[in-house]
Amino acid sequence: MNYSHEPVLLEEALTNLICDKSGSYLDCTFGLGGHSKKILENLNSDGSLFSIDKDSEVKEYANLIKDERFEFQVSSFSNISNLFSENSMDGVLFDLGVSSLQLDKPDRGFSFMRGGTLDMRFDNKSGVSAKEWINKASEKEIADVFYFLGEERKSRQYAKKIIIARKDMNISSTTDLAELIKPKGFQKKHPATNIFRGIRILINNEFEELKKGLISSIRVLKNKGILAVISFHSAEDRIVKNFFRKEYKNFFEDINLKNINKIKPSKQEKSANPRSRSAILRVGEIEYVS
Ligand SMILES: C[S@@+](CC[C@H](N)C(=O)[O-])C[C@H]1O[C@@H](n2cnc3c(N)ncnc32)[C@H](O)[C@@H]1O
Repeated sequence: MNYSHEPVLLEEALTNLICDKSGSYLDCTFGLGGHSKKILENLNSDGSLFSIDKDSEVKEYANLIKDERFEFQVSSFSNISNLFSENSMDGVLFDLGVSSLQLDKPDRGFSFMRGGTLDMRFDNKSGVSAKEWINKASEKEIADVFYFLGEERKSRQYAKKIIIARKDMNISSTTDLAELIKPKGFQKKHPATNIFRGIRILINNEFEELKKGLISSIRVLKNKGILAVISFHSAEDRIVKNFFRKEYKNFFEDINLKNINKIKPSKQEKSANPRSRSAILRVGEIEYVS
């Protein structure tokens, strides 16, 4: 099967990110390469792009890009400081969340719309899968993940259902889990949306990774370099917003983030690509103060 991912806020991210066509750029979320390819198109022959992704399955797609200005490595946000030197990048981009490769492949277990093993790891070669976690975690732990990470109001009710079901079965597929929390009657949004998102955030340690990634990005950016982050839900955006507003100062006293901008998708993009509906792009420029 051929997977394709419609990049979100593509033009807006590019216009804001590329401040020097001969510069060096870092795409921290290669995915299926939508943003990376567009960055390369916009650079001149002296420019360069480094892309990373935690998911080793995307390496095959990165290898298709035959361009001397491009390098790819399987790695995570928390490793950025080890991979790149300080003051080396003109722009850093994060396009958070899940790629279509991950969502559409049933055996990756990210989508309750597709039957598959309950996995949900971005890096499916290491760590604990969603299946292992949901069959071992305590009721309180499950309820907390649904509430705090999934922002699900009925967290305790769903956690109880899971503990009861576990007495008779091993919850091993996306369908097993989605069936357990199936809504009675019509609901605008399937509760599995929040539940699956909460588990995914936990399994991939997403919030800690994001915080480490933001701090490392400032470290690797040059003076006047651009940090651009696309988020897809309120809890994720809150981390980015607070970091841009003031939290970066806890780590970098001699740096200012200026020209901060918040950009949302156009009406046209929202209707053409439903995944973009909740997207928010935040950009800021690094200023060294001496
Ligand atoms: C929304 S997709 C990116 C799509 C990409 N911009 C495109 O246009 O094809 C997000 C990607 O980020 C990756 N990712 C998530 N968390 C990561 C982390 N902590 N470190 C590295 N990559 C991560 C995921 O594996 C996924 O491939």
